[in-house]
Amino acid sequence: MKNWVGSVAVAAMLSAGAVSGAFAQAKAAPASPASGKDLLAKSGCLACHAVDKKLVGPSYTDVANKYRSVKGAEDKITAHVLNGGGGVWGQIAMPPHKHIPEADVRSMVRFILATK
Ligand code: HEC
Repeated sequence: MKNWVGSVAVAAMLSAGAVSGAFAQAKAAPASPASGKDLLAKSGCLACHAVDKKLVGPSYTDVANKYRSVKGAEDKITAHVLNGGGGVWGQIAMPPHKHIPEADVRSMVRFILATK
């Protein structure tokens, strides 16, 4: 009798473990592709830029305002971030970011251009 109770308890513990294991797996399900916002944080951009204030580089709101009605801005800015360079906002140049895939830079630029 004692053994029977013991094995029920073990079975209950095992099935509880199986349930929480499945739950943990569901939570770790493949994330959706990183958003522009996450990429900015991950790529070190926020060391020099903030959304709403000038740091080393212009604020992203200023960038969005400057280019709001400029045709082809997304391509131009994507190239500027990839290649680096200065002279648009001041004397300080932005370092190149050629190690970042262009598609990632583009999604960051889209996020930046959508800031208000
Ligand atoms: C070391 C500091 C630094 C880092 C890191 C940095 N930037 Fe910049 N960024 C600048 C500076 C300075 C400028 C202004 C350059 C100029 O006047 O042409 C600038 C300009 C920009 C602009 C405006 C470009 C234009 O054509 O008007 C965008 C957009 C931008 N950065 C996005 C990014 C993104 C995205 C990252 C991360 C991948 C990043 N920056 C990382 C310093 C930085």
